Amino acid sequence: MWFGIVTALPELVEGLFREGVARRSREAEVLRCEYFTPRDHVSDVHRSIDDRPYGGGPGMVMLSEPLAACLRDARAASPDPDTPVLYLTPQGDQLDQRLVNELSSTTSLILLAGRYEGIDQRLLDSEVDREISIGDYVISGGELACMVLIDAVARQLPGTLGNPGSIESESHVDNLLDYPQYTRPREFQGRQVPTVLLSGDHAAIEEWRTRQAVLSTWCKRPDLMSQHDWTSQEKRWLREFVAELVVQSNE
Ligand code: ADE
Repeated sequence: MWFGIVTALPELVEGLFREGVARRSREAEVLRCEYFTPRDHVSDVHRSIDDRPYGGGPGMVMLSEPLAACLRDARAASPDPDTPVLYLTPQGDQLDQRLVNELSSTTSLILLAGRYEGIDQRLLDSEVDREISIGDYVISGGELACMVLIDAVARQLPGTLGNPGSIESESHVDNLLDYPQYTRPREFQGRQVPTVLLSGDHAAIEEWRTRQAVLSTWCKRPDLMSQHDWTSQEKRWLREFVAELVVQSNE
């Protein structure tokens, strides 16, 4: 998969590729990325890429012309002339696992990272296909948001993770949270590893883990419940769990 990244701070995004999943995916040539920086397209002495907003107000706005030149270069370098341009902004569609999966099935993406108070609206109107937010909070620029998106997408690409099973069993894949994990020692601060995990009984372990994932989702993220495809066994567990809670509250 190819990423064209339009950013004033390519070295910040490049940090993502020094370690971990993103580094492995690039080493395995599963992922490629190229940077396009607006400073390469300005000629004034100060090499400014921003200016004061029309109408006044705080902060600076990124100039449209250098960004348009970056996007032109990015399209030319992309393996697909119709590569979509995504702008990272708190005003965008919320990035979730469903959207990550959708993005990871494309061959190329151009990511536009803004700085300062934002980008001239005319550039966004004419060049951006989709706006994406990583959550309802504001960070100081789109680069960190780009890094979150690339990391989440990279781990979905075949050949990135050592063990493909890790994707299938991870949180949010089927709108369930993850089950709890344990490793050595068997006893830690007086707490034991659940005995079923030491039993070697794979069916029982699988069942215990699914049950834990169901209960964890119900307790911590009930908003995800309506999106999961509930099996009759899972529904039974929930009913049992609710019945236990009712008994406990009557004691
Ligand atoms: N830029 C600043 N805040 C952001 C957010 N929450 N998501 C994406 N891009 C951003």
